[in-house]
Amino acid sequence: MRVIKYGNPILRMKAKRVEKVDHRIRQLVNEMIEIMRDEEGIGLAAPQVAESISLLVVDHSLIEEDGEPSAYLNPEILAAEGESVFEEGCLSIPDVREDVKRPEVISVRYEDIDGNIHEKKVDGLLARVLQHEIDHLNGILFVDRISPVKKKMIQKKLKQIAAEEREAMAQVA
Ligand code: NI
Repeated sequence: MRVIKYGNPILRMKAKRVEKVDHRIRQLVNEMIEIMRDEEGIGLAAPQVAESISLLVVDHSLIEEDGEPSAYLNPEILAAEGESVFEEGCLSIPDVREDVKRPEVISVRYEDIDGNIHEKKVDGLLARVLQHEIDHLNGILFVDRISPVKKKMIQKKLKQIAAEEREAMAQVA
């Protein structure tokens, strides 16, 4: 399993709902948590490991004390308010970091790995991470949310990442 990069068409697909948590899903969650930690990410969405399903993991140990990595299944943003600007990066777009404007507070509904449904209002870093990862489930990348001028400035870098990704995909095939 590897983190796929910008240019891979899977990153642009709309992820399918997880209907049932089986052994395969649990194993995927464990593998995603491992990759997230290895790559020092704070969040990782299943499409980034080429699984187009509505699942993401967040490393809460990087957000709050006593936090642990956890999985969010079929997450949905119910409401959003306020506005904040924060510099984002993405494991699928290495070496690119840009300011992104997003709502400051969101209400989110999701299922945990045991099938319990949660509805929460979150803000700060967790709201930021969840919005970034939920975007992945809808085929949206943070570079889609920056100004056209800034996007133009990183165009060369994006093309280079996409070219490397084409090579990586060809090697697997
Ligand atoms: Ni990302």
